[in-house]
Amino acid sequence: MNANELESIAQALVAPGKGILAADESTPTITKRFEAINLPSTEEHRRAYREMLFTTPGLENFISAVILFDETIRQKAADGTPFPELLRQKGIIPGIKVDKGAKPLALFPGEKVTEGLDGLRGRLAEYVDLGARFTKWRAVIRIDDAIPTPACLAANAHALARFAALSQEAGLVPIVEPEVLMDGDHTLERCEEVTTATQRMVFRELAEYRVVFEQMLLKPNMVTSGKDCPNQASVREVAEATLRVLRHTVPAAVPGIVFLSGGQSDELATRHLNAMNQIDKAPWQLSFSYGRALQSAALQAWHGSDVLAGQRALLQRAQSNSAARYGRYPEESQTEKLAA
Ligand code: 13P
Repeated sequence: MNANELESIAQALVAPGKGILAADESTPTITKRFEAINLPSTEEHRRAYREMLFTTPGLENFISAVILFDETIRQKAADGTPFPELLRQKGIIPGIKVDKGAKPLALFPGEKVTEGLDGLRGRLAEYVDLGARFTKWRAVIRIDDAIPTPACLAANAHALARFAALSQEAGLVPIVEPEVLMDGDHTLERCEEVTTATQRMVFRELAEYRVVFEQMLLKPNMVTSGKDCPNQASVREVAEATLRVLRHTVPAAVPGIVFLSGGQSDELATRHLNAMNQIDKAPWQLSFSYGRALQSAALQAWHGSDVLAGQRALLQRAQSNSAARYGRYPEESQTEKLAA
């Protein structure tokens, strides 16, 4: 895999009108999602759910890539086709979440550091053999009065940089995901301050560890009011604050920014992306890598068995977010409320 191939993959992940489906929920997380529809989280249910998503007719028109979990990249469709191969046949690029989750940061109450660097080089080689072309690692930053601390930001940025360097060494495009959580009653301004500090630290470490910006993507949170903040910022304010932070922190050499949805409602996640793409020309592609905002409606509609209804719901969200990549999403609702 030469440097140009990694650049081509990074660019294909943010191809015009397309975004990424994050379907990399760990077993505990997908179990939580299934509990909401009273479905036991068996391996077969998890497999059938992912098969429903991946075989959606026309998905490849709006979705460039899917992020898989370790169990999923080893599973097969009912006809025996391995999931990475099934996606590849549709022109969708398979990728893999490689972190081992956010764990409490010792001596720093309320803060977390993401683990998974030990043995990562060997795991990456196996994922390449299984068909993965890109990787993802998520760091989690919580806002409260006295946090995040500089130590928490530094520990997470360091891990993200080591992960990204190992991925590029293995011929995989890293998606670097520092997520500042929406949990809490903080203001939009506080989220802007913390997101700026987080991304500054991340890009300093990425440069220090010789990560090639042209061969990676950033997966950040949008800059929003905390979920419990009584004063919720408007769509326009979120879009402007998010773009301001990105312009101050992200090198123009990075080909694309793929936002996470982070607990926003489906509708709001789409409208925020749409507003950003309407504002002006940014140096990077502004796209999506949503988990919940693409899947919630599909999971509800599928409900364990209704494949066609699940696929219809997924396609509808994928199509709306594709329109938002061009700033062409119709304003469906005037109420700007966040999902619980
Ligand atoms: P959400 O869009 O549900 O935040 O998930 C994206 C993701 O990949 C989190 O790691």
